[in-house]
Amino acid sequence: MLERVLSARRAAQFSEGDEDDESKTRKNIFFATRVTNQMSRIGYLWPCLLLCIFLLIASIFIHSRNFVCVSSSAPYYHTNFFAIDGLDSDFGSLGVPWCRSKQGRTVEWTSKDLVKGLEEFVPIYETRPIINNLYGMGFDHSFGLWFIARWLKPDLMIESGAFKGHSTWVLRQAMPDKPIVSLTPRHPEKYLKKGPAYVDGNCTYFAGKDFVDFGSVNWGSVMKKHGITDRNRVLIFFDDHQNELKRLKQALKAGFHHIVFEDNYDTGTGDHYSLRQMCDQFYIRGGGHSCFRDSDEARIRIKRKKFWEKAVDIQELCGPSEAWWGVRGQMRDDFNHSNKAISYKEHFQNSRFVESVLDVYWELPPVAGPSLTHQTRYDPARASSPIVEDGRFGLFQRLGLSRLETSVFNGYTQMVYLQISEPES
Ligand SMILES: C[S@@+](CC[C@H](N)C(=O)[O-])C[C@H]1O[C@@H](n2cnc3c(N)ncnc32)[C@H](O)[C@@H]1O
Repeated sequence: MLERVLSARRAAQFSEGDEDDESKTRKNIFFATRVTNQMSRIGYLWPCLLLCIFLLIASIFIHSRNFVCVSSSAPYYHTNFFAIDGLDSDFGSLGVPWCRSKQGRTVEWTSKDLVKGLEEFVPIYETRPIINNLYGMGFDHSFGLWFIARWLKPDLMIESGAFKGHSTWVLRQAMPDKPIVSLTPRHPEKYLKKGPAYVDGNCTYFAGKDFVDFGSVNWGSVMKKHGITDRNRVLIFFDDHQNELKRLKQALKAGFHHIVFEDNYDTGTGDHYSLRQMCDQFYIRGGGHSCFRDSDEARIRIKRKKFWEKAVDIQELCGPSEAWWGVRGQMRDDFNHSNKAISYKEHFQNSRFVESVLDVYWELPPVAGPSLTHQTRYDPARASSPIVEDGRFGLFQRLGLSRLETSVFNGYTQMVYLQISEPES
């Protein structure tokens, strides 16, 4: 696995949070962020001079409350860019959760492959038919899905939840000649009447009056129709906001092995029960949560929330009887149209089940740090290190990422790729 993914439970880093796919607003970027970008833009000319100016400004503001806030919530800049150690906060239980796989296996691709992929994908993304995919995928997840599909080279791609068809288009860019099966209640062609949408010529749509939920499809006949004899050659993409435990069991039962979940929501967020929520357990260092109002976690969460729109504080995290798992002790499903309170025991059993079927668990990192993307939604302390790290404006620019509207970076929710198989006896 990527070194950065291996260390997914490291202490805080920087970037965005979780989401609902809607608002594309953003807050002001931090002073330190601006300094970082500015320095990157000028190619580190006059570094000594700028460092001196910075230190001078820092000394002026060192006692101000604001500066203390920036310091404590932006440890990444201090340790990695300004090379000043010792200013990191201990994010402890706010570290990045992840699911353990059965044998500790991981993906083949490396961070270098991801960077190369970005270089290739940006010009493709610029040709997308749906420019403003509000309520659908933004850049990070589009890249992740394209990269995974292109790497795996499946013989058939199945998507559940197409909306206007942006994700269908992404899959098509990855595999120009392979068939797609798309399950979505409203046919994407319906959206064409009102504006941009994408309808694929080599896609079998189970949509409109032909809609069938993933769990009710006769997969035997679909596989036969597409000449698929090995279900290991099929990639499933879920962006349908259904309980991921339910989807996981359905995919397993149907004999599929490769799955991408678009919205792998963090604990306390989102409209459906996610893998991340299931694996956020106390017995893994960095997991588990405290609902105690005077705890370190409560203090840190209040602070993080000031900077990241989708960060949750203790009040939002914890439901009745201090239930922090899932979302306030609930297992949510179907865009939160259905939700069920579950006991900690049940939640814990779910996590054990998940880990018993996982061969690989890999969360897509954010494409770039928040000082570059200007995203202000997800809390980077709860995400793995970005592919293009803060301060690397040169690389960000070289990859063409600076050409994109900043709003396209505002939808990251820890998209995850899984390989699954039946539990070992
Ligand atoms: C967030 S949107 C998908 C966005 C899309 N993947 C994109 O990239 O633009 C969620 C979609 O799931 C669809 N949906 C709702 N229930 C569903 C179900 N049971 N199975 C499949 N899709 C469902 C919704 O109608 C909606 O089109």
